[in-house]
Amino acid sequence: MHLKSSLLLAVACAVGAGAAHAQTTGLDLAKNKACMACHQVEAKRVGPPLKSVAERYAGQGDAMVDYLAGKIRGGGRGAWGAVPMPAQTQVSPEDARHLAEWILSLAPAKQ
Ligand code: HEC
Repeated sequence: MHLKSSLLLAVACAVGAGAAHAQTTGLDLAKNKACMACHQVEAKRVGPPLKSVAERYAGQGDAMVDYLAGKIRGGGRGAWGAVPMPAQTQVSPEDARHLAEWILSLAPAKQ
């Protein structure tokens, strides 16, 4: 888990704007990919607050990264309300996984 995250971060930093922190890198990526047109970290916009997404799925294991990466690229509906999320096919599978890791990292640490 630790090693994998570090690898992902290393990749993201190499590709991204060279931001020093995971949070910043993830947020920059989310801004780049226009996620923040519909999402905010703390508050509901068109889509659910990313912190709430993190709270719902964090601590459920590594499979959640794949699940969320799939939802990011494929879109989804019904998990949070009536408004569907359109598929974000402009996001590469690697970026989708990195975004999913970042979103899950927004959850407050649990026991
Ligand atoms: C056009 C608006 C829009 C854009 C752009 C958008 N989202 Fe969403 N997103 C939504 C909505 C609406 C939902 C709630 C869907 C539902 O209820 O199942 C959602 C849900 C989600 C979820 C939770 C999925 C679940 O199954 O619980 C994640 C994670 C997410 N978005 C990440 C992203 C990321 C990352 C991006 C950028 C690549 C992005 N979104 C771009 C509107 C958007």
